[in-house]
Amino acid sequence: MTDETLNLDTLYILDHYIQKHYAHEDALLRNILTRSEAAGLRNIHLSPTQAKMLQMLVKIHGSKRILEVGSLGGYSGTWLARALPENGQLVTLEMDPLAAQVARETFQEAGLESRVQLIEGDAIQTMKGLLKQEPFDFVFIDAHKPHYPEFYEFAMRLVRPGSVIVLDNVVQHGKVLDNSLKESQYRKIRELNAFIGMDPRVEAIMVPTFTQKGLDGFLVVRVK
Ligand code: DHB
Ligand code: MG
Repeated sequence: MTDETLNLDTLYILDHYIQKHYAHEDALLRNILTRSEAAGLRNIHLSPTQAKMLQMLVKIHGSKRILEVGSLGGYSGTWLARALPENGQLVTLEMDPLAAQVARETFQEAGLESRVQLIEGDAIQTMKGLLKQEPFDFVFIDAHKPHYPEFYEFAMRLVRPGSVIVLDNVVQHGKVLDNSLKESQYRKIRELNAFIGMDPRVEAIMVPTFTQKGLDGFLVVRVK
């Protein structure tokens, strides 16, 4: 496979190749997906390759305190918490009681309860309560898309200079590229992408992710 023969199949094959060599999913991680599906959660977890990239960012950065907005079944949270040192902490927020229940079981099964605090409820309300805690080194935003601008602004209040914020789904299967699509989730993310690109408080880069989950992207932000 080369540039000349590039097509969608090539990109799927490449993602599987990267997964095979660099993003091994153990039985516990696979079981999260099985339990999530059985509980009726949407299959919108990170791909193993995306999750490994996030884990690498946490380790390279040396983050000790991580905030995740949107736990779902705890799949990404497990990868994140496993990247933490012994005294590190992941605080993960989930609004849906069903997802929160699956995620709680996940962290228990993974033996990560001491390192993970799951807070069920409205993320913005919860984040207000987190203002009095020490700042987070790393924030992963992966929840309700039309609320991304508020999640981002609140995350900015919960971090310190040098912290990293990563936002999932900033390409929306390519739909952010089409300005004619006015649905709030595409419009809000399109506007937020442009805003962050000019936000003097941060430096940022969008990293396209083409995986088993299709075309999307991470926005990787460093707070100045
Ligand atoms: C979808 C994917 C996601 O990663 C997410 O957080 C929400 C929705 C989707 O493909 O619909
Ligand atoms: Mg997502």
